[in-house]
Amino acid sequence: MTKSSAPGKIILFGEHAVVYGRPALAVPVVQVHADVEIQDSSRAGIWIEASDVNLHAELNTLPSDHPLASVLHNFFFLLRVSPFPNLEIKIHSTIPVASGLGSGAAVTVALTRALASHLNYLITDEQINAFAYEIEKLYHGTPSGIDNTVVTYARPVYFARGQPMEIFKVGQRFTIVIGDTGLSAPTKESVGDVRKLWTADQQKWESVFDQVGRIAAQARTMIENGRWKMLGELMNKNHSLLQEMTVSSPELDQLVEAARNTGALGAKLSGGGRGGNMIALIESERAESVATSLRAAGAKNTIITQVL
Ligand code: PMV
Repeated sequence: MTKSSAPGKIILFGEHAVVYGRPALAVPVVQVHADVEIQDSSRAGIWIEASDVNLHAELNTLPSDHPLASVLHNFFFLLRVSPFPNLEIKIHSTIPVASGLGSGAAVTVALTRALASHLNYLITDEQINAFAYEIEKLYHGTPSGIDNTVVTYARPVYFARGQPMEIFKVGQRFTIVIGDTGLSAPTKESVGDVRKLWTADQQKWESVFDQVGRIAAQARTMIENGRWKMLGELMNKNHSLLQEMTVSSPELDQLVEAARNTGALGAKLSGGGRGGNMIALIESERAESVATSLRAAGAKNTIITQVL
């Protein structure tokens, strides 16, 4: 049997502006993960069991645009696997879907790694990342590639589209509380709406994206130097710029406010916005009380994670 796993992720700084070439920072969230188990099967076909989404089906009975079918068909095509082997594939993920925690990318990466390993193909992280990016493109229109990158490498990444990604060091670990609005984040729609704003007034929005890019670059230096307490103010500024881009929502703003009022050093939405998650920077001893106040302010779920 072959097993593989990939973590969830959060974007610390730079979402949306990253689509326009500015840098963004993202880190893995190991508290949630996608896990894949593969074994040879005695029955014909490729049987997929993904109980979280109530799926138990043979590959050929799935529509060709089903996300799991796309991963399998593209993988077999790319590696010229023929005929298809008989397999039992089990997929389980604790990453909430469409919440900005990278669930799709994590399932793709864990499944691709498990397949390669089970079928004895040597495949590098770089190839897995490139493959996962192609799959992201099928479902997200114009993704920047940040999700597949952080999930593949499972390390903090400084990401700028079209440039080699950089893994960066964390000078001193710090704690983040993630608050989930419980609403799905319509990333494709929010990315599309930002595109409309940009099309109507490129000069204005290029300058907003420049500000976001500078925040991400400064944040990287602070993290590397262990000056994480200074990130709070940068988070607040980044959140204001995301509000200006119209990608926040009353639910996200309420959680951001609640976190700030209970002593978070800063807070912002994380990911595509309009739903999904927000993040707050906190002193570790305050983690539980901030998580409690987020739930009181409407968070459906909270995760306390360390960036290290
Ligand atoms: O919603 P998420 O976490 O998948 O992140 C989307 C991040 C954006 O910058 C809004 C889009 C992208 O492709 O980078």
